[in-house]
Amino acid sequence: MNIRLARVQDQQGMQACNLQNLPENYTMKYYLYHIATWPALSYVAEDSKGRIVGYILAKMEEDLAEGEAPHGHVTSISVLRSYRRLGLAKKLMIQSQDAMATVYKAQYVSLHVRKSNRAALGLYKDTLGFEMKKIESKYYADGEDAYAMNLDLTA
Ligand code: ACO
Repeated sequence: MNIRLARVQDQQGMQACNLQNLPENYTMKYYLYHIATWPALSYVAEDSKGRIVGYILAKMEEDLAEGEAPHGHVTSISVLRSYRRLGLAKKLMIQSQDAMATVYKAQYVSLHVRKSNRAALGLYKDTLGFEMKKIESKYYADGEDAYAMNLDLTA
């Protein structure tokens, strides 16, 4: 399995992977916006035939409040079912986090995750050390709450 920076041509493969894995979906334009604006932050995992089996779509937060530190945000990450528990998501997260800190001087990275998403919570909290900042009530379209989580990138 190879992990590399996402390119504009990967939009379709990333979207196909996202559609299989998550109910939160995005327009092709939104993938392009991430890749074109923050070309160092989104990555894909590909199999030996070059098929995209996982991705991370990430950005820098654009609407900073007065005095708020620059920080990255994970818009979406997923790995196809048959490629899970191989450490791909962990590698995708770390590549993006490192680039947020080194290229864009991000102080921390934020994300939202469903309260019921045991696998993703294991990844964020146990493996990567994210902390829960707050619960965002009915954040998702189906009414489920989100945990807003952060990871300090300055330590
Ligand atoms: N149950 C509990 N913990 C888990 C699970 C699971 N099913 N899967 C992963 N973890 C935790 C473990 O701590 C694991 O370490 P270990 O294998 O040494 O025990 C650690 O995460 C790293 O696992 P990876 O192998 O790197 O994770 P994987 O490549 O399987 O991808 C992911 C995890 C992305 C959550 C995957 O299950 C998936 O695609 N799920 C559907 C989509 C999704 O929920 N995406 C996240 C939404 S939130 C957002 O996008 C910001």
